[in-house]
Order: sequence, then structure tokens, then C-alpha cells
Amino acid sequence: MKAGDLFDLTGRVALVTGASSGLGAHFAELLAENGAKVVLVARRADRLEALRRKIESAGGQAIAAEADVLDREAMKRAFDAAETAFGTVTILINNAGVTHADRAVEMSEEVWRRVTGTNLDAVLYWAQEAARRMLLAKKQGAIVNIASVLGYGVSKGVAAYAVAKAGVIQLTRALALELAFKGVRVNAIAPGFITTEINSEYLAGKGAEMTRHIPVGRLGETRDLDGALLLLASDASRFMAGTTIVVDGGQMLALPGA
Ligand SMILES: NC(=O)c1ccc[n+]([C@@H]2O[C@H](COP(=O)([O-])OP(=O)(O)OC[C@H]3O[C@@H](n4cnc5c(N)ncnc54)[C@H](OP(=O)(O)O)[C@@H]3O)[C@@H](O)[C@H]2O)c1
Repeated sequence: MKAGDLFDLTGRVALVTGASSGLGAHFAELLAENGAKVVLVARRADRLEALRRKIESAGGQAIAAEADVLDREAMKRAFDAAETAFGTVTILINNAGVTHADRAVEMSEEVWRRVTGTNLDAVLYWAQEAARRMLLAKKQGAIVNIASVLGYGVSKGVAAYAVAKAGVIQLTRALALELAFKGVRVNAIAPGFITTEINSEYLAGKGAEMTRHIPVGRLGETRDLDGALLLLASDASRFMAGTTIVVDGGQMLALPGA
């Protein structure tokens, strides 16, 4: 077997949360291109439907499952729909996320709960559901949580987001410890700044200045995460558990003024 064959996902069933835009939509297409049948989850059903058609017209297989990641009944319906269409989900990409721009002292409880709920609590709920179903079906699989470099460092105005992403990194380790010996590997990716809808306004203003602090000399593009995503979703990472791979162009290396 060639090493490249380890990345092949033919026959696998992958569920991607936050598949209606940005990284999640890109991950869904990438997984389908590499052989997986894909379940697209988010709230904006029209976007999921457009992506489903795009994946199918490229020769892949996908279904759309509208769900708010904090709605556990909708979550169960999404996994049920996946099983009816394709079989047990053995790859979960926990990608849905929201950001905010509130200083910690003024932040409302509503913002704190929404941001930590979507970025951290939902990661636990979807991982629990995916793992329970894999164990019940006696299948091995992979869970990939999307964290952030803001899980390691912090900026002004992102306290809830940064706390949630730090939680995702530690949750990844805790889940991996309990699930690895049962055949469910849990790992994470911590991207640096990748231009998508979540940050397009912010980067339009600050992008040039931020690029100065990224050693590879540019902001990230969605395809820069392809290698890490395929590695962690596939058998190529069969001896990895609880790891968070930082993909940030070296952004975290530089001290201020460096
Ligand atoms: N872009 C970056 O620079 C960067 C860096 C580090 C980490 N990340 C992380 O990467 C992930 C994807 O971000 P992105 O940049 O692709 O942002 P994006 O384009 O804004 O996408 C966010 C996705 O999350 C979904 N979502 C948000 N709240 C949801 C909810 N309650 N229920 C279901 N889906 C929900 C959105 O879909 P609906 O609105 O249709 O529900 C959308 O598909 C996030 O976890 C983000 O924190 C991004």
C-alpha cells in the first residue's frame, strides 16, 4: 500500500457541522472528493442544499440536515438521517462556530452563553452522540474538533471565543483519553487566521497589519487546512489521539516586535 492510500475515505460517512459556509463548506467538499459520503449540518438550509447539489454534480454523495448545533433533538435527527441515507457516521468534523467583539467587562450573559455554547458545549454534545452511535454499531472512527490559535493566545474583545477554544483543546484530550482504546480517535486543528465570513470584516481592516506578524507572509486560505483535516479524518492518523495540530503559518511563534 502506498502511504497516500491511507488518506482515502472511500465508503466512510462524514458529518460536518457548520457546513453552510467557510471552512465547513470547504471541508465537506474535500471529504467528498476523497471518497466520503457527507452529511451537511447548519441552520441555513438553502446554503446546505446548494452545496449538496454542488457535491453531487462533482460526482460525490451528500445530504443536507438542517440543525442548530445547540438543539439536541435536531442533532439526533441529523444522525438518524445520516444512518438512513448512508449508515453510521464514522467521521465527525465539529466545525460550527461563532465569534464576537465584546470586551470582557461589558459582555452580556447572552453573548457569553451563545459563544461558549456554540463553540464548546456543542462540540461535546455532537462528539457524545457520534461516539455513542459508533460504539453501538461497533465501528471505529475519528472526531476532528476545530479549535483556534485563540485557544492558546488571546486578543482584546474575544474573551468568550478564546475561552471556548481553549476548552475545545482540553476537551479533545479528555475525550481522546476515554475513547481511543474503543477505536474512536479524537483530535483537533487550531487554525490561524483564514479568510472566511467569520472574520472578513475584521480582516478587511486589519489584514495587512496582521500579515506582518505571520512568518509565511500571508493570511491563510481554506485549502491550507486540507492536509491536517484529511490526516486527522483518515487512517493516516491511526496512532494519533488527543492531539491539536496548529496550522497558522507560524503566527504563534512570533513575540511582539519580532
Ligand atoms: N476563519 C478563521 O480564521 C478561523 C480561525 C480559527 C478557527 N476557526 C473556526 O473554524 C470554524 C469555522 O469558521 P469559519 O471561519 O468557516 O466561519 P463561518 O464562515 O462564519 O462559518 C461558521 C459556520 O458555523 C455555522 N454555525 C454557527 N452557529 C451555528 C449553530 N448554532 N448551529 C449550527 N451551525 C452554526 C454557520 O452556519 P449557519 O449560520 O448556517 O448555522 C456556518 O456554517 C469555527 O469553529 C471557527 O471558530 C476559524
